[in-house]
Amino acid sequence: MTVDTTESTSSTTERAQKASASSTTERASLTTESTSSSLVLTEEQQALLDGAKGEAMAKVVKVLVMYGETFGATRMVPVTSRMGHLVTSFGLSALKPVYELLDGLIREGALSQQQFTVDPRPLDANVKAGFIADLVFKFMYSRQDFYEKQLSELGLVNQDGFTCACYFDEVGNVPAPGDVLSWAESSAVVYANSVLGARCNRNSGIIELFGSVAGFVPYFGLLTDEGRTASWIIDVQTTQKPEAQVLGSAIGMKVMEAVPYIKGLDRWLGSELDQTAKDYLKDMGAATASNGAVGLYHVDGLTPEARALGTTLVADDAPTYVIDDAELARVKASYPVIWKDPQAQAKLAFVGCPHLSTAQLHDWATRLDAALTANKRSRVAVKTVFTTAPAVRKAFEATDDYQRLTARGVTVSSICPLMFMNNPLCGKMPVVTNSNKLRTYTTARYHTDAELLTLISGGEL
Ligand code: F3S
Repeated sequence: MTVDTTESTSSTTERAQKASASSTTERASLTTESTSSSLVLTEEQQALLDGAKGEAMAKVVKVLVMYGETFGATRMVPVTSRMGHLVTSFGLSALKPVYELLDGLIREGALSQQQFTVDPRPLDANVKAGFIADLVFKFMYSRQDFYEKQLSELGLVNQDGFTCACYFDEVGNVPAPGDVLSWAESSAVVYANSVLGARCNRNSGIIELFGSVAGFVPYFGLLTDEGRTASWIIDVQTTQKPEAQVLGSAIGMKVMEAVPYIKGLDRWLGSELDQTAKDYLKDMGAATASNGAVGLYHVDGLTPEARALGTTLVADDAPTYVIDDAELARVKASYPVIWKDPQAQAKLAFVGCPHLSTAQLHDWATRLDAALTANKRSRVAVKTVFTTAPAVRKAFEATDDYQRLTARGVTVSSICPLMFMNNPLCGKMPVVTNSNKLRTYTTARYHTDAELLTLISGGEL
């Protein structure tokens, strides 16, 4: 049988020509857009936009230009941090366009110019949800292995790089003061800006990868000195150390995306950024970023820019929000309980969103052990999962406290509780947590550290 290939060859050629013509047109329009834009590119950046390093890189730069234009950026600045961090850690089957895009980047060698860490994995074989729910997970995150392979090819630092607390020393993604970052994870962005003095906008997922691939990001918002000026004063007047997660929640809900300057907190945290202060600010910041949209806060006498510049960081017309015991109680009482049965017994407790530090793990181990002993219990009354970075977990596994915790029935995992709760069947479970971020985004019920300790150790609230 003879096959006439004329038509197919010609149509293939035509398709190729069309593709080539359309990409030429697209490149031309990219060039035109950029020259008519207020965002001025360097010659090198313009060449990337014009396709000097391939179609995929041109698209990456085009997106960064459009992103910058939307926020009034006039130029790009280099990403200077040693490492990047990606928020998208889950291989959801619905993210096909993302996988195709990443394939294009990998094919054309448009890889990340810096290694990166990634948010926690959505699954852990040690955290079981039940037979049916685990099947749902398999379906939900069916592209997990495929996606992780793509991440490895793009620049994932290593298999232990999955944590939102990438700035822990054990993980090693610790930006230097003044570094420009391309991150998106809200709890990590607010920590890097506020506690480490780095500079990063609250980017979205994938945009942050594009910044790491291109090596530059649009200059606006929290990258600029003006953007780091405080437009709110928070006056902490509590009679005891405020619960970090409730204080952060109150601040976030009041100022939303503005920059707050917090006075009166150094009274409880001191003037040194020691581990206790850092852990407190990690948890408070995550609550400001999720209950509101805070990307940077200053703590008078404590955080780097507040120590260097003091109240000169505060805008003249900044209003003051006083937070006292009554205000914290009001905020906490306002959290709705959205369990199907609000009187239900808790079935699962998550501690560690954002991930726990080594010091926090040891502290919880000590307090839980004492509480269980006081309640004459050998094991936790509620299935309990402590979450932390893989590198922290590995080191912690060699300690007596780890043995004590696991003997008491606690699971130490590196999962993301929020990803776990995204499973509709898990969302129906009565889950308790001390994380205001988890409360905000899921059906989990919030309790203070002390309340949660009472619950999981079998005491009466
Ligand atoms: Fe981290 Fe997942 Fe919580 S990314 S902050 S553990 S929602």
